[in-house]
Amino acid sequence: MPDEHNITYPYIIDFIRGQIAPTSGILAQMEKYAQKCGVPIADPETAELLKLLCLLSKPLRVLEIGTAIGYSAIFMVQYLPAGAKVTTIERDADMAQTARQNITDAGLTGRIDLLEADAQVLLPVLDGEYDMIFLDAAKAHYIHFLPDCIRLLRPRGLLVSDNVLYGGMVASRSLLNRRKITIVKRLQKYVHAICHTPDLASTILPVGDGVALSYKI
Ligand SMILES: C[S@@+](CC[C@H](N)C(=O)[O-])C[C@H]1O[C@@H](n2cnc3c(N)ncnc32)[C@H](O)[C@@H]1O
Repeated sequence: MPDEHNITYPYIIDFIRGQIAPTSGILAQMEKYAQKCGVPIADPETAELLKLLCLLSKPLRVLEIGTAIGYSAIFMVQYLPAGAKVTTIERDADMAQTARQNITDAGLTGRIDLLEADAQVLLPVLDGEYDMIFLDAAKAHYIHFLPDCIRLLRPRGLLVSDNVLYGGMVASRSLLNRRKITIVKRLQKYVHAICHTPDLASTILPVGDGVALSYKI
């Protein structure tokens, strides 16, 4: 995993995390499971940002690309307006099965729709309009997902992309791990694209592993 300590200072991360109320119930159990099994889930400060974005933009239809065990989907639902739904895509069968169980245990089957598929195959044929998209799947494919994300996002909708600084490697060659060079180059292309696409107004926040916010104009 990329090192989030290369994004900001450890004492800043500790301070920010110190302000976040711990989760309870199924989310707390999922955090423990994720830690034990090495499943990457949203950092606490990234989850807090998602919470704020959900409360501010009140999306009725959220698309998540990259479910893992369902942590961020279950987390976000708590802060969505009544009747809002999350559609989430996961390609790994074991992850999808665990997510399905977690969604059932959380009593959220009516609010979270899990699509077990490869987003590279599914996104081009997905219809509908989403108010918010949370992009959190294979980082090397963000650049390939972008045209469909823009198409699926309604005007004035929000695209939230996680891990865009990728342990700082996207911003500094000195941090580069040679084995990650393809991912880093594609993420650099992605960041350039979201910052230079006339359809989007984007900003990059050094939160968690780097979060990009892109507003569809
Ligand atoms: C970082 S994890 C998602 C974490 C989750 N959003 C959370 O915060 O709880 C990324 C997930 O995306 C899935 N994934 C990667 N590439 C994908 C693709 N092309 N289509 C669907 N899922 C994909 C992986 O299997 C993995 O479970």
